[in-house]
Order: sequence, then structure tokens, then C-alpha cells
Amino acid sequence: MSNLLGRHRAVMPRWVSLYYDDPIEIVSGKGRRVTDSDGRSYLDFFGGILTNMLGYDVPEVREAVERQLRTGVAHTSTLYLIRTQVELAEKIAELSGIANAKVFFTNSGTEANETALLLATNARRSDQVLALRNSYHGRSYAATAVTGNRSWKNSSLSPVNVHYLHGADRARFPHLSDEEFQAFCVDDLQHVLDTATATDVACLIVEPVQGVGGFTAAPDGLLARYREILDRYGILLVSDEVQTGWGRTGEHFWGLQAHGVTPHIMTFAKGLGNGFAIGGVVADGTLMDALPANGISTFGGNPIATAAAKATLDYLLAHDLQANAQRLGRLLIDGLRTAADRLPVVRDVRGKGLMFAVDLVDPGTGAPSASLAARVLEHAKERGLLIGKGGLYGHTLRMAPPLTLTEAEAREGLGILVDSLAAAC
Ligand SMILES: Cc1ncc(COP(=O)(O)O)c(C=O)c1O
Repeated sequence: MSNLLGRHRAVMPRWVSLYYDDPIEIVSGKGRRVTDSDGRSYLDFFGGILTNMLGYDVPEVREAVERQLRTGVAHTSTLYLIRTQVELAEKIAELSGIANAKVFFTNSGTEANETALLLATNARRSDQVLALRNSYHGRSYAATAVTGNRSWKNSSLSPVNVHYLHGADRARFPHLSDEEFQAFCVDDLQHVLDTATATDVACLIVEPVQGVGGFTAAPDGLLARYREILDRYGILLVSDEVQTGWGRTGEHFWGLQAHGVTPHIMTFAKGLGNGFAIGGVVADGTLMDALPANGISTFGGNPIATAAAKATLDYLLAHDLQANAQRLGRLLIDGLRTAADRLPVVRDVRGKGLMFAVDLVDPGTGAPSASLAARVLEHAKERGLLIGKGGLYGHTLRMAPPLTLTEAEAREGLGILVDSLAAAC
């Protein structure tokens, strides 16, 4: 193992960081459990960063991919009809709630957001974009430009002209009531439009629950109030559902639905292929068709990825995994909140469905503590649980198990989490 770590360090970029003092190599998986190269088994509460949405070795997905492989065709290009691609697009268009929707498939969330920004800036003939502070939208120039988190911004070069809004930073305004905070945010949006932007603005891009940002979210309803103002100016609303889509938040199928509003454009990736590379953008057909030049994504929506994605989506809907996310999310979040009373390192427990987080602070100073988060990660690993971390100051534990999680596994994971937090106190 240490040999592999040395080889990794020799040839992989420094900025592709690994978890743990002793990083692990996952060599097999089944259900919600994985095994490392030393034969140790873990319950997985991070799912390859919310990507193994159904868990590991799901027969329905494996068989769909094997069926496609047996045809001898892994790739054809979008020059030819791809049946699974059309079927998947039909399904996503219908699920999106966007009228007359069309879908374009990509290989990643970054590319999906690039496409969304291209659609919006083209339609509005404007390079001006609004984004939320503490956001993460990917690693390309435009996606980085709308990312509001310094530790993920490698460059200030930008094809778009960005202004940032408040909303997901509720915790920074503890002196305001919920209503006061929303009124402040709405006033700020108007002020930004009046003072910082010129003529037309293309869109506002938001994560309904910020992923990398530490599962922080604007209070429910705020984005509908934003939309009222945006509509007056014809500014489009883009929802980045890369982490929040497909029922993960339990209460809704898309994260943005918590605000009672439908976006003009939605992007997705991560969980859809249950590990196979697929992302995409769904938008009003007129908006989508309006791009003036040709466009393809060579691998986007290829036969293997769309076969996996279609099988994943069919499985998710047939088993109503959104309801499972809601039920077990409640169990986990309530359990953590109860335990938090006796854990001085815990500042906040928040989340929706199977997307929940714990903020850690130094009990002496109350300052966000990234080192405590790293310690809890190690304790959880020792006890057989994989979790994630994130947040603006690296002090947030992020948990997002596969949506197929069972109640027994939820209770097991909760027990390990609480023990690991206690061990770090
Ligand atoms: C909300 C969100 N948008 C976009 C992306 C970028 O997706 P990808 O890494 O597939 O390019 C991510 C990745 O973490 C994400 O969390």
C-alpha cells in the first residue's frame, strides 16, 4: 500500500488530495460496504462523493452495462442515434418539471455547468452572471469563476463577469431572524443589480444545498423571492443539482423544489450513472436550441454511460429511494442532534435527507476546527466508517450514504459517528 502511495505522489498532482494519514485503496464493494487492499471492510457514508448513489455492485446496473458491452459497442458518437440516450433524455426531461425541455449529455458536472452558462449567456447576450458565496460548480474556467470558495479557485481568469450574492451564508448573520435575513438578502440582490451590474444579466446559478461548501443552504423560499426579482429583468435561474438531484434531499426530487420554484436550466452529474461518467443539462427547448454553432461532446451520453444511468434511474424510481432518503435522513439527523448536546466540539448539525453535515469547533475558542474534522475522519475510519469533510474552513463533516441505505446500516453508521465525535472531544 505505502508503495502505491509513493507512486501516487510521484505522478499525481499535489492538489489532488487523499483522505487519511494512511490513505486507502478500495478494491471491492457490495451494497453500502467496500473493502480496502488490506482486507478491511467499511460502511460507506460518502459514496465516492455522492456518486455511488445506489451503492456498489447493483445487479440491475451491472447487467445493463454488460448487455451493452456484449453488443461490442462502447461508443458510436452522437453522429448516430443512441437509443438509451434518447430514452434517458425523455425521462429526465419529464422529471425536470421544465416545460418543453431538451437534454444535452456531458461527462461531468463541470461540463454541464459550462453548458448551462453558455446557454444563459447566449440567450441573454450578456457575460454577467450572479452566483452564491461559498459555492462550488466545478474546475474549468467558467465553473471556477462562479465558485465562491477561495480554496477551490485556482485562477481569477474568467469568461464570465461574476457578482456574488448572500443566501447560503445564513450562519454569518445570527443576529437576524429568518425573515430579517431573507429581507436582507432580497435587498442585497436588488442593490447588486442597481450598483454592480450593467444592462442585461444572464443568470443566477445556485446549488440548492451547497456540496463542497459544507451542505449549507439558503433558507427555504429565498430562491423563489430571488426569482421574483430576476424575472423583472429577464435573468435566468440555473439550478446546479449535481449533488442535490434524484431525491437525495428526501423532501423533494430536486433540491430547488424546497424553494417552490422551477429553474430555467438545471444541471446534473455524479449519482446519475452510479459511478459511470455522465452529466448533463436540461433546459427549455428554445433556450437549448438557440446556440448558433454546432456542438458535440464526444463521450457525453455514450451507450455505456446512458445504459448505466437509465438502469440507475429506473431502480431509484421503482424503489422510491427518495422516501428512503427522507426516512433515514430524519433518523440520522435527529440522532446526531440528540448526541450533539453532550459533544462540546459540535457546533451545528444540519441537512436534508441523506445529505447531512456536522460543523466542528474548538471547544475552547469556538473557532472552526479543520484539525478536529480530520481527527474525526480518522476515528470513523478506525471504526469502519467512511465519511467526507468540507466547508469553507474545512471544519465540516459531510455524510451522504447511498440512497439504498438500510435502517440497520443507518443506525450502525450513526453509532460510529457519535463514538468518533466523542473520541475527538
Ligand atoms: C455542486 C457541484 N457542481 C459541479 C461539480 C463538478 O462536477 P465534476 O467534478 O463532475 O466536474 C461538483 C463536484 O463536486 C459539485 O459538487
